[in-house]
Amino acid sequence: MMYKKVDGETVKSLEAISGKDFVFYDEENLQLYSKDYTENLSFCPEVIVKPVSSAEISEILKLANEKSIPVVPRGGGTGLSGGALPLYGGICISMERFNRILDIDEENFQATVEPGVITQIFQEKCEELRLYYPPDPASRGSSFLGGNLAECSGGPRAVKYGVTKDYVLGLEVVLPTGEIINTGAKVLKNVSGYNLTQLLIGSEGTLGIITKIFFKLIPLPKFKKVILVAFHSVEDCARTVSRIFRSGITPSALELMERSAIKAAENQLGKKFPNTDAEAQLLIEVDGNYEDTLDKDIESIAGTVTENGAYDIILAEDNQKMNELWALRRCIGEAVKSISEYKEEDTVVPRARIPELIKGVKSISEKYGITTICYGHAGDGNVHVNILKDKMNEEQWTENLDTAIREIFVHTVSLGGTISGEHGIGYSQKAYLPLALSENELTLMKNIKKTLDPNNIMNPGKIFID
Ligand code: LAC
Ligand code: ZN
Repeated sequence: MMYKKVDGETVKSLEAISGKDFVFYDEENLQLYSKDYTENLSFCPEVIVKPVSSAEISEILKLANEKSIPVVPRGGGTGLSGGALPLYGGICISMERFNRILDIDEENFQATVEPGVITQIFQEKCEELRLYYPPDPASRGSSFLGGNLAECSGGPRAVKYGVTKDYVLGLEVVLPTGEIINTGAKVLKNVSGYNLTQLLIGSEGTLGIITKIFFKLIPLPKFKKVILVAFHSVEDCARTVSRIFRSGITPSALELMERSAIKAAENQLGKKFPNTDAEAQLLIEVDGNYEDTLDKDIESIAGTVTENGAYDIILAEDNQKMNELWALRRCIGEAVKSISEYKEEDTVVPRARIPELIKGVKSISEKYGITTICYGHAGDGNVHVNILKDKMNEEQWTENLDTAIREIFVHTVSLGGTISGEHGIGYSQKAYLPLALSENELTLMKNIKKTLDPNNIMNPGKIFID
């Protein structure tokens, strides 16, 4: 790709737009903004700008188009598919100054928020008002809402409450060519033209820069109960997932963790948990407004899991115990990564096919001598497969990794699934997207990209193979 380099004149123009104090090109900052949470990948931008308004972003994008310089928008930098990595250098637009919650409309259960607000801060603000913004990616303590939209993040509660896209009514967006547009409206129903809001969500910073978000909120449920359920076999554990729904209950979280995932999390936390010799465990949460109804739900779930081979059920008796179990689950991602070099996958299948998904993953792992650790949002059919280099030598690792991933994805797609549920394609999965989408589907998507970004300056090199 023939992009121009950021020269002194460009830096001066950026300084004129956002102010000298908000333009950075020193080595320390370039390094800092060269990474996200995806493996150990690193691509340096040439300059970082921290604008504060959509008007500034519009100016920056017009300049980038004129000069043919790539632009990469960046939120909290917690992405897991390399969405925020500046593959071709250029300008990194950091959204950190867009950090205001502009309005929480309690009467209408809506909020207007800037994209640089940290997810958890927004959630807590809503909860103070007994309002609920459910999407809860593992990184919510540092991820930005804008990044959550860009990747359509999920998290454990998605199983009952849906993912990020289900809470967005509209957006303010700066298009790659610099026009500022609004999509959607502050209404719960809207069939006025194409749904541009949902086109932008999950577009991984390739179609525009979100500068304002109009959220829908719901009432905050009053109570929660959490249990940890131990199984002797991964298969029994996986099969139980769909049986719980068939019994008539929708848990507010239904997470599966295989033994090696829990062991890694125990090591990370320096703490022992019950039944960690179980082959697999389910972390199940129910929520609602009446405690006695939740007790009955838990009783019913206990019956279902026992019928399906569970041998022990631990109930978190208080908030502290509940938080401890959630800390165990939430740290798995980080814990597993600290074991060795790795590659992280985000497979998703129709819920009842999880046993087949995991069985296939394990037999492919065995065939290629790779270690895989499975965990995640089983209630959504969304299983994170972490592939570890572990004791493999370099040659085996490079030789087998790509083939094994391809086989895992072909298997996932054959079960009616797809290759990413909530982490996105970004940079790290783009080679595999043709396994999930046809040539025609890819061409249509690329044409949409061309229409919105004729000079291909917005986050180039993402989603599609160049
Ligand atoms: C999680 C992240 C990795 O579920 O999506 O922990
Ligand atoms: Zn996840």
